[in-house]
Amino acid sequence: MSDLAAFTVRSIPGSYGLPLIGNLMDRMDYFWLEGRDKFFQNRMAKYQSTVFRANVPASAPLFGGSDPRVIAIVDSAAFTTLFDISLVEKKDVLVGDYLPSLDYTGGMRVLAYLDPSEPQHSSIKSFLLDNLRRSAKTWVPDLQSSLEPLWSTLEKDVQEKGSAGVLLPLQKFLFSFLSKVLLGADPAVDPEIAKNGHFIIDKWLAPQLVPTVGTGGLIPYPLEELLLHSFPLPFAFVRGGYQKLYDFILNHAKDVLSIAINEYGLTEAQATHNLLYTLGFNAFGGFSIFLPSLISYIGKDPRLQERLRTEVRDVMNTHEGVSFNAVSEMELLSSTVYEALRINPPVAFQYGRARRDFILKSHDCSYGVQAGELLCGFQPLAMRDPKVFEAPEEFRADRFIKERGGEGLIQYVYWSNGPQTATPSVENKQCVAKDYVMATTRLILAELFMRYDSFQLDNDSSSTITFLKRRS
Ligand code: HEM
Repeated sequence: MSDLAAFTVRSIPGSYGLPLIGNLMDRMDYFWLEGRDKFFQNRMAKYQSTVFRANVPASAPLFGGSDPRVIAIVDSAAFTTLFDISLVEKKDVLVGDYLPSLDYTGGMRVLAYLDPSEPQHSSIKSFLLDNLRRSAKTWVPDLQSSLEPLWSTLEKDVQEKGSAGVLLPLQKFLFSFLSKVLLGADPAVDPEIAKNGHFIIDKWLAPQLVPTVGTGGLIPYPLEELLLHSFPLPFAFVRGGYQKLYDFILNHAKDVLSIAINEYGLTEAQATHNLLYTLGFNAFGGFSIFLPSLISYIGKDPRLQERLRTEVRDVMNTHEGVSFNAVSEMELLSSTVYEALRINPPVAFQYGRARRDFILKSHDCSYGVQAGELLCGFQPLAMRDPKVFEAPEEFRADRFIKERGGEGLIQYVYWSNGPQTATPSVENKQCVAKDYVMATTRLILAELFMRYDSFQLDNDSSSTITFLKRRS
């Protein structure tokens, strides 16, 4: 007897509408009339269900005929299905049914597109996990040396211009730091890369992501639809920059490449393209979204800054210098980082294709899924699930601390494509840097509160600092 016959299950509500028209209407809602978050919220309310059918981008006919039809999942319990690799296949579904041109990744399917059942997934992921373990030794000094120019740029801009934009100096810092720890290469050895590496990555990321994101009204909708959401943007515009980054890795990451080739059996091209993707898309892309969001929550709350500053300095009084160990003792600081990842997860979507017919279980309901259907988990709602989190729409910095009984909630924080309590491995698709992202973010905040008493953000723009007070 099949799974489907063994249970009484609810059929999944929602409809894909008429061919082409249904998709077009959903696209208008998604990009224009409702916006991404409301698109999912409104359907959840309409169908009284946290699992429903909908069309999602990228889906114009010119996107290689990608199929917009998905089963959306917006609650915490059903979301875990997407981590069960025995139920869902993760081949080529990083951004849904749409696969950006492989020209962007050197003509090959890099790790993020591979299912764990493909042999290359194991060798590339093992190499990247090992690479992180090796760089752990220099992680803190590499972070500190890269942070120095960030702090001085912010201080100088605030002093001279009255305000400092955070994003560009932050990205410059990220590129420098990530090159050091992931490639073993300081961009300073190549002046053009040192100056422009972060811009080159931004230019390479944009055309891969643009088919699936809106401009938030920056461009009038019909124009946005025509120019950005109707056809894939050609790689030719960014080919030169990609080649420069490729050559930088080839010439300056020789030790790391040699480990990939000699110990993990990768070809030079596989190792280089995968390192570039990990550095640019996973690491630089992830942090570039996450850190500004985290800073905006802390920047708006002077009382939280005071509590964090006190905790950081108290813990540091008992340690020789900032370290992985020292920051792991900062409980409020850790909880603040979890909370920022919960309320605004940097990667909103996870996809997986049903390997077979199975029963999808939500909190109090079951649904029949057919083999081949594409599941689309929307993290921002799954991590605001009121059945798991009290006052889920509120940013509560101390939500996860022991004293509040919050430790048990950490398992429901899914930003890394897996529970925060799970471990990334070759058998799953969890972010290889799950623990390093946490540690790095804590370290950055600890450095911030060791150096500054407080900071303020512009009322209108959460990515502009208007006041920065050095430690008194
Ligand atoms: C805030 C920063 C980061 C965020 C939000 C983030 C998020 C994620 C997510 C959601 C996935 C799963 C993608 C999917 O299959 O749906 C992932 C995978 C991955 N991440 Fe991260 N990541 C971050 C930083 C990093 C860093 C620093 C590295 C550096 C090594 C990294 C390397 C990877 C790799 C290699 C994968 C693919 C794992 C696999 O396919 O098995 N990430 N990341």
